[in-house]
Parts: sequence; structure tokens; C-alpha cells
Amino acid sequence: MNHPVELGKGDGPGPESGAAGQGSPGQGPGGGQGPGGAGQGVPVDTPPGAERLPEELRRESETARAALTALRKEVAKTVVGQDSVVTGLVIALLCRGHVLLEGVPGTAKTLLIKTLSRALDLDFKRVQFTPDLMPGDVTGSLVYDNRTAEFEFREGPVFTNLLLADEINRTPPKTQASLLEAMEERQVSVEGTARPLPDPFVVCATQNPIEYEGTYPLPEAQLDRFLVKLTVPVPTRDEEIAMLQRHASGFDPRDLSAVQPVAGAAELAAGRAAVRAVLLDPIVAAYVVDLCRATRQSPSLQLGVSPRGATALLATARAWAWLSGRDYVMPDDVKALARPTLRHRVQLRPEAELEGATADGVLEGILAHVPAPR
Ligand SMILES: Nc1ncnc2c1ncn2[C@@H]1O[C@H](COP(=O)(O)OP(=O)(O)OP(=O)(O)O)[C@@H](O)[C@H]1O
Ligand SMILES: [Mg+2]
Repeated sequence: MNHPVELGKGDGPGPESGAAGQGSPGQGPGGGQGPGGAGQGVPVDTPPGAERLPEELRRESETARAALTALRKEVAKTVVGQDSVVTGLVIALLCRGHVLLEGVPGTAKTLLIKTLSRALDLDFKRVQFTPDLMPGDVTGSLVYDNRTAEFEFREGPVFTNLLLADEINRTPPKTQASLLEAMEERQVSVEGTARPLPDPFVVCATQNPIEYEGTYPLPEAQLDRFLVKLTVPVPTRDEEIAMLQRHASGFDPRDLSAVQPVAGAAELAAGRAAVRAVLLDPIVAAYVVDLCRATRQSPSLQLGVSPRGATALLATARAWAWLSGRDYVMPDDVKALARPTLRHRVQLRPEAELEGATADGVLEGILAHVPAPR
């Protein structure tokens, strides 16, 4: 079903998400149009298996969508609310992109990823990024084997499908860099030998927004290695009351045994194939570009979104279109994903920052000013 959420905004459904939801009435899972049925654009990419019957592809697409939608229900077994964060995570998984989760302490960032990992039939590892963590603790290192008298590579936790890089800004830059490199290259190079990481390989990194003593901010120039930056809001009053009630009736956040695996690599691959078949009208592509160009001209920003950022926004918008049960992207999909996909790819001018401007605020202004098609 459609989940009208405003991704990463922080305080629940907003006006844009409402628009995105209304744009596709009756087109939830099962109601979507078959490939090529609408003629609203051209497939950007031919999905693998395109020679198969459209009916078969449509069924696979719907099964995958149902499985990925079920992830949300599993996560809701432990986490109250945070719907847009869960949707953002599913979109990132579909795009094989990395996620940066930002939120004040105690907003269930860790609990969310741990629950999601249980709901996914994928290999999962967690690394707590402490101040004394070394690059080799993340990527792995060569160890001397006495019996063979040779060095052999011992894989670090990065060799997994889903890696929780918890509190990434508590570790010094050298260790952060080793992870950021692995994220970009999808391989680890040790002593001249490149070792490919498993597929999928998705990093979910968490960080606190407040500058605590002993934290090392991630290098801004490398932040765009994250496909999305999701802000984890403090729950609403009602959500917080519901959370307390759960705790009062015996819920233990350390016991995740009620959470069942509902999706795995096969569903993600089928979902990805379906997303690749989502039609893109050239007008919507132009809208993505206009938004990104506007960030480059904004007087509040010293660095706008790069062309890489534009491709990221198109990718997340297409994934959201498919998750919403459509086979074409709408301007509202682009709007819904603009903030989470772009907020960490722009840099405020110091003057603007002093005046209290935020990346989200600037992006909001741009979304309000750049005319959307139709
Ligand atoms: N939305 C929520 N739903 C259910 N439980 C919640 C929610 N928000 C907070 N909690 C409770 O707060 C606890 C703290 O959550 P968690 O450790 O995941 O926070 P965190 O955001 O990772 O914090 P930190 O930044 O300090 O690591 C959870 O174990 C849970 O009991
Ligand atoms: Mg945590």
C-alpha cells in the first residue's frame, strides 16, 4: 500500500508527502500498470529478463514489493513510528546505496537497524566505532599463520551484506576513511590485492548531530558516498506514549526474537529489476536537473549538488515510485526524496549558517521556487 510519508523530514507526514500519496490513487501493490502500458516515458534501462513475459515480470515485481513493504511491519514490532526512516532505508537497499542516520541519542537508531537486519534474510554485522578502533578492525588484516609460515587475510566485519557502522563520528578520521573507501570501491585492498565485498553491500552508519567532545565529523567531501541522509526525529507525543506502554507491558528492546525474516537478496534483486523498468518522462528528468542547478545558484550555499547528486535523486525517486505501486516517476516522487538525497550534498555558506540557515531549509525554498512539471 502507499505510505504517504515525507522522507527524512522529521515530523511525520507533511504536505508534499500528501501530494505524493494522492498522486497514485488505487495503485498500491496489485494495482500498478503493467510494463509499457502507460506510455508515459521511456525505460531508462532494459531490465534483465526483459525477454520474459511481462506478466511474469509483473508478478515478480509485485511479490518483491509486498515483501519489502512487509519489512515495515516487522520493524514496527520493536520501533514505534519512524516510518519515513524505514522507507528511506528500504529505498537505499533497493538502490544498493549507503545510509547515514542522524538523530539525537535515544531515538532508536541502533534498534531500528538491528530490527531491520533481522527482518532481512541477509548477512549482518555491527561495528561500534569507538575512539580506539583501527582501520584493520573494519576492513580486516593480514595475520601470520605459524603453521604455513605465510600471511593470510582475515576478513573484517565489512565483509557482509548489511553493516551497521554505529556512532561513526566517534572514531578518528583514519578509521572512518577505511570504511568510506570500502563503501565507494565496494572492495578492500590489502597489500596490493583487491578483495571484492559481498553483493549487496550496504552500510547504515549512525551519528549524533550534536558536537560532542571527542567526536570527529565525517569529511564533508566524502559525505556524498551516502545515497541518503535520514534524520531520525524525536517521536511525537502519541508515539512516545505508545512506546512507554510497550515497555510497561514487558517489551525488551534486546529481545528481537519476534521479528521474522520477510525479505532477502532475491526480493531485493527482483525489486531492483522492477525499479530499473520504471519509466522516466524527460520532463521529470529535467525537473531533477533544474532542482540540482538551483542549488548551485543559491546564495546561501557555497557548494551545490553535483551531477552525481542528480543521478542519486533520480535513483531514489524511481525506487519510491515503484514502492508506491507505479511504473513511472512523478515530480512528487522527486520532491519527496529531494531532502534526504540532497541535504548532505550541499554546503552552507558560513554567513548563512550564522544566520540560522539549514540545508533542509534551503532545499525547501528551492522546492517551493523551482516550478514542477504539470
Ligand atoms: N520510536 C521508538 N520506538 C520504540 N522504542 C524506542 C523508540 N525510541 C526510543 N526507544 C527506546 O529507546 C532505546 C534507545 O534506543 P537506541 O539505543 O536504539 O537509540 P540510539 O538512537 O541508537 O541512541 P544513541 O545515539 O545514544 O546510540 C530503545 O532501546 C528503545 O527502548
Ligand atoms: Mg545507538
